[in-house]
Amino acid sequence: MCGIFGIAYRTEAPLALGPVLRRALERLEYRGYDSVGVAVMTSANSESVQVYKDVGKVSEVVGKYSIDSLRGVAGVAHTRWATHGRPSKENAHPHVDCTGAVAVVHNGIIQNYAELRERLAAAGHTFRSETDTEVIPHLIEEYMKALPPWEAFREAIGQLRGAFAIVALIASEPHTLYFARRLSPLVVGVAEESAVVASDLPTVLDHTRRVIVLHDDEYGYTAPGEVHVERGGAPVDLASRVVEISWTADMASKEGYPHYMLKEIHEQPMALAGTLSGLDWDTLRAAAEALHNARHVYIVAAGTSLHAGHVMALGLARLGVKATPIVASEVHSVVGAVGEGDLGVAISQSGETIDTLVAVRALRGAGARVMAITNVVGSSVARESDIVIYTRAGPEVAVAATKTFTTQVLVVNALLHALAEAVGNGDIAHVGDNMQRVPHMVSRVLQLTEGPIRELSRAVAGRASAYYLGRGLGLPVAMEGALKLKEVAYIHAEAYPAGESKHGPIALVADGFPVIFVFLDREVEKALMGNVMEMRARDATTIGLIPPGASHLAELFDSYVEVPYLDPYNNVILYVVPLQLLAYYAAVHRGYDPDKPRNLAKTVTVE
Ligand code: M6R
Repeated sequence: MCGIFGIAYRTEAPLALGPVLRRALERLEYRGYDSVGVAVMTSANSESVQVYKDVGKVSEVVGKYSIDSLRGVAGVAHTRWATHGRPSKENAHPHVDCTGAVAVVHNGIIQNYAELRERLAAAGHTFRSETDTEVIPHLIEEYMKALPPWEAFREAIGQLRGAFAIVALIASEPHTLYFARRLSPLVVGVAEESAVVASDLPTVLDHTRRVIVLHDDEYGYTAPGEVHVERGGAPVDLASRVVEISWTADMASKEGYPHYMLKEIHEQPMALAGTLSGLDWDTLRAAAEALHNARHVYIVAAGTSLHAGHVMALGLARLGVKATPIVASEVHSVVGAVGEGDLGVAISQSGETIDTLVAVRALRGAGARVMAITNVVGSSVARESDIVIYTRAGPEVAVAATKTFTTQVLVVNALLHALAEAVGNGDIAHVGDNMQRVPHMVSRVLQLTEGPIRELSRAVAGRASAYYLGRGLGLPVAMEGALKLKEVAYIHAEAYPAGESKHGPIALVADGFPVIFVFLDREVEKALMGNVMEMRARDATTIGLIPPGASHLAELFDSYVEVPYLDPYNNVILYVVPLQLLAYYAAVHRGYDPDKPRNLAKTVTVE
């Protein structure tokens, strides 16, 4: 959702703070682009902060308020994805107290803000926004009437219910940042000359590689050379919590590509190779055993991660394991059937998606063990699961998931391979052998398909709707292709099991309606060919992703793209790549910025 950042320097003399805040805002823009704001302590002796904020993109707000030229000793910055209160200048963060001495940036939702606001208003506080966040600086201000800043902050945090990551700047302590985390991610940097806190690791990495990833319900303060964290009123021992991060901040920059989405699509061979080489086969075998012994497997995830979950469910069924993929936010409808002996599998790139986290808690609360597949080390989902398997895709900046999906599927395939070995099922044994070839094959897919897909995307970009059809493992690929097209090109796209298309969806098909078919499994080829004929008979424009040299398939389509073929499970990875490219180029043809899809946030941290 929102992106937050704070920095405080040791120096008494004001520094060129503007470029630092701008850089942080640029990095955090993907987390929300409804509005942008900063608050700055222009000198160590100032009695209040200066706030600059407005609706618009980072570049617009930075330009309008000459953020680059700001000087100071400390500042906080925020990019907003609106929850309470429409996107407006007043609702933009940072929010300040009545005196302007306390500035707060926040990600999450304060559930009890209405009652706090009423109480504070009755005590004489003046509110200027419709946000839940604004209660926080006023609460701190209220407690500061009797307490020093740190204690006032601690008291204020104790009053909050809901989900939050908070950074506060208090004018009387210009070299200190106050922070708190519950459910929303927050990282503290450890450095000698500055104190840094941010919602995202790459933003901290601009300043230091030594970080502390905060856990739920931790809060504290940091000044240059000092970090103090508490939980439940007791200090937290940080000796083993400081980790040295090898990701450089530049790994998250565009490296010459026009958009992060395209960069990340092209990074897939590298991400897959990294995931492959990082696979811990002991953990995978233990995980396979847990799957084998499970009474029932419940796979919970959202969006793209859920599509990886569908791949897993199909593979598990093939291996005789009962598995149900569930939209994480719908876990409540199955939890009554969950008990000891069941296994939950949570798939989440960020490991912070609140729906998935809540589902993990519900499954564990009902007695199930939980296995996590996630990209972010130390994320909430990872910490709350019994078994953790990491995809090693590196940071994904684009809102649209690409390399994190293919690495999730690679991990799923590795698990299926380990399980197939354990149960002696030769049916999908070749998946493990082929896996080694996947990174190279994805490079081939990119080389072979990007040109033709770019051409094809012109026709799709001109249409209002599209269908994506597949059978078996082709269906999750179709679902992922349709989600990508909706997300970045704003074209209405639906995926169906191809056989199901006759039971209603085909009514829309006429006169050039684009229908994209995914032919990644020879077992279902015949039936799928019949579905192509049905669509042709209704004057659809048919587009096929087909194996190389399959002339009997090629002749069915108005347009087709040949995609190298390994086996259906590994083909999920190969065949989704052209669909990622199709969505990307359709968005570009339509004049949209694929990195900033409207109404979407990279990580959804509100239910
Ligand atoms: O971080 P997660 O994998 O838990 O995120 C889940 C979804 O929010 C995410 O996949 C979303 O659907 C993406 N925008 C897809 O491109």
